[in-house]
Amino acid sequence: MSFLSKLFGKKKDVAVEEKEIIPAKTVELVQTSFEAVKPIAATAAEIFYTKLFELDPNLKPLFPAADEDKMKEQGNKLMTMLSAAVAGLSNIEALIPVLQDLGKRHVAYRVEKSHYDTVGAALLGTLEAGLGDDFTPEIKQAWTDVYGLMASVMIEAAY
Ligand code: HEM
Repeated sequence: MSFLSKLFGKKKDVAVEEKEIIPAKTVELVQTSFEAVKPIAATAAEIFYTKLFELDPNLKPLFPAADEDKMKEQGNKLMTMLSAAVAGLSNIEALIPVLQDLGKRHVAYRVEKSHYDTVGAALLGTLEAGLGDDFTPEIKQAWTDVYGLMASVMIEAAY
């Protein structure tokens, strides 16, 4: 059963059972691998935006970061946000309403549904570049699942 059907499935009691939504192993892989990204956060942020705008240059005007200082600020925002989200996986019940509100706010940032795939691809590419051989297929899968879940919750609430 997919994460989403577990989340939005008819059985409400199942939806709130943390372990049913994201396997503990997945959370652990994401949290542990993210620790290795933290020391290179500034570089990772730079890689992320470079990849993102290569994938879709039309996304540039959505971000207020026209100059380099602002871009750094944006990079910090990204890493702070990712840290919070990754830490939040330990308490998915509390994270879900936060993601739902976040998704709704993104509509005002002119973010469209399809942009979530682009951001996901840029994020995975960044992790691959940043972690090198430590970005194992298992870790890649864990991030794919976790990003997919977060994006689905945001999209479902927003569109
Ligand atoms: C899991 C997916 C995502 C997460 C967790 C996330 C998180 C955040 C957070 C925490 C903020 C700060 C503002 C706020 O809290 O309202 C933000 C801003 C923003 N995000 Fe996202 N985001 C995600 C996906 C996306 C996608 C797909 C796009 C599309 C390009 C995007 C574009 C933006 C933009 C343009 C801003 C405003 C920038 C600014 O005004 O400084 N985000 N995001």
